[in-house]
This record gives sequence, C-alpha cells and structure tokens, in this order.
Amino acid sequence: MRLCDRDDLKAGEARRFDVEGHPVCLVRIADEFHAIGDTCSHADFSLSEGEVDEDECTIECWKHGSAFNLLTGEPESLPATRPVPVYLVRVDDDGVHVEVAS
Ligand code: FES
Repeated sequence: MRLCDRDDLKAGEARRFDVEGHPVCLVRIADEFHAIGDTCSHADFSLSEGEVDEDECTIECWKHGSAFNLLTGEPESLPATRPVPVYLVRVDDDGVHVEVAS
C-alpha cells in the first residue's frame, strides 16, 4: 500500500499510518525508509511520537524510554522485552509503499 511521497518525511522523522487496520510507524533515516509496528510492545503508546536516533537506527518510546531497532523490531533497552513487527518497505518513483500481511 502506498503511504506517501518520499519527500513527505524529512530524515530523522517518524509518522504513523494505518495500513489495512495495522498501526505502522514509518521512519526515514537519511534516504532509507523503515516501517515497524507503531504500538509499543510494553504498553499502548505510539512509537512514532518518540525520538529517532539516526546513528543507532532506533526509535525511543516516549513513555518509558525503550529504544526499538528499526531493522529488527527488537527492543534494545527495558522496560519493553518483546519485539514489534517489522514491515517490508519499497520506495519507487511513485513514493513509499509498505506491505502488511493480513
Ligand atoms: S509504553 Fe513504551 S516503553 Fe513503556
């Protein structure tokens, strides 16, 4: 599903999209895009409202501070212990697309 134009997100920016009923957090790191589940695995808070670390390729949950790896979905710090889903991203001339298995 197409989410947006490439230039809709600046580097280091995150945005939430609803993709076929799944909350997805789309993040831009330099010219690469990553998509993970937007709901923190610790509690029901939106990861896209957290801070992106471009060097570490993580996003930090704003509520209690767990940093999630954007490539694996794994939390790299407590209190979250379970991963969030990782989605396949495709970028072409038409924009940024994400595949969500239903
Ligand atoms: S809700 Fe995300 S770390 Fe607690």
